[in-house]
Amino acid sequence: MNITLTGSSGFAGTNLSNYLKGFDIQTLSLRYQPNQKIQLAHTEAIVHLAGKAHDLKNVSQPEDYYQANFELTKQLYDAFLKSDATKFIFISSVKAVADGVSGTLTEDEKPNPQTHYGKSKRMAEEYIQAQHLSEGKKYYILRPCMIHGPGNKGNLNLLYQLVKKGIPYPLAAFDNRRSFLSVENLCFVIKELLEQDIPSGTYNIADDDSLSTTELVMLIAETLQQKPRLWNIPAPLINTLAKAGDYLKLPLNSEKLQKLTENYCVSNQKIKEALGKDLPITARDGLRRTIRSFEES
Ligand SMILES: NC(=O)c1ccc[n+]([C@@H]2O[C@H](COP(=O)([O-])OP(=O)(O)OC[C@H]3O[C@@H](n4cnc5c(N)ncnc54)[C@H](OP(=O)(O)O)[C@@H]3O)[C@@H](O)[C@H]2O)c1
Repeated sequence: MNITLTGSSGFAGTNLSNYLKGFDIQTLSLRYQPNQKIQLAHTEAIVHLAGKAHDLKNVSQPEDYYQANFELTKQLYDAFLKSDATKFIFISSVKAVADGVSGTLTEDEKPNPQTHYGKSKRMAEEYIQAQHLSEGKKYYILRPCMIHGPGNKGNLNLLYQLVKKGIPYPLAAFDNRRSFLSVENLCFVIKELLEQDIPSGTYNIADDDSLSTTELVMLIAETLQQKPRLWNIPAPLINTLAKAGDYLKLPLNSEKLQKLTENYCVSNQKIKEALGKDLPITARDGLRRTIRSFEES
């Protein structure tokens, strides 16, 4: 099968290119330009991973998100509609729907994104959903939660570095639940969508189980064969410290505290029912693999 892959140089793209051995992959590195007309050469499906998410240096402007995630997706989707390709897989994000989740996030939730990232992904989703699809063409909007795997430099890697250095985790008094997504499960879903005849639609993607950040710290320590170092500092004291951190530039501030202790559970029921298959790897096994890959890199 001939597929066109955008964002192939990124974390998910590198893993997906390795996973889809046996497919004829053409990579396409795109950046938004006004009035750009994208030409799609002979291709059966497009997997659109390219986008703007991380801003580690905090230098991005709002329009960077709208151009990379909305305008460029629109240009590529228009090219898909005019081409012979039959499938378009757009990697959106759960953040297109919600920045915080109190119960479990399903596809029925009314989208209410708060960040430029989430809003720009949602605008791209809306554009795709609003276009008429001719017979035989299908679109899939995938909404992954936090993806992890080899080569990932995100928050999981930071937590790994802390545990490896023997730095105690001071937030063990907080009990949260959050979903993760092993890049292997993401690649599996994409491959199944390419190979099976699944109805067009919007699908959340997450591993089966959720973990608390404290359980994650324990899993990292167990994988590193270290004793976990957990501090049960009372939550009100931590909250006060984090508020002080907002003004005094301490390592912990309200934003970091929220990221580490928030609940964010995502249902994967719809995609599993559509595929008629379970995901290949459990949350804990996927996390162990990722942690081992950090050890090897
Ligand atoms: N990582 C996560 O936890 C997560 C969670 C939910 C959704 N997602 C989504 O999944 C996709 C892949 O994520 P990732 O973690 O692999 O991201 P990544 O490592 O940042 O890679 C994204 C790729 O997009 C291309 N790109 C970079 N800046 C761009 C811009 N301004 N305009 C257009 N393309 C640009 C680059 O590929 P080329 O140089 O090859 O063009 C880059 O390697 C993204 O759309 C992201 O929003 C990620």
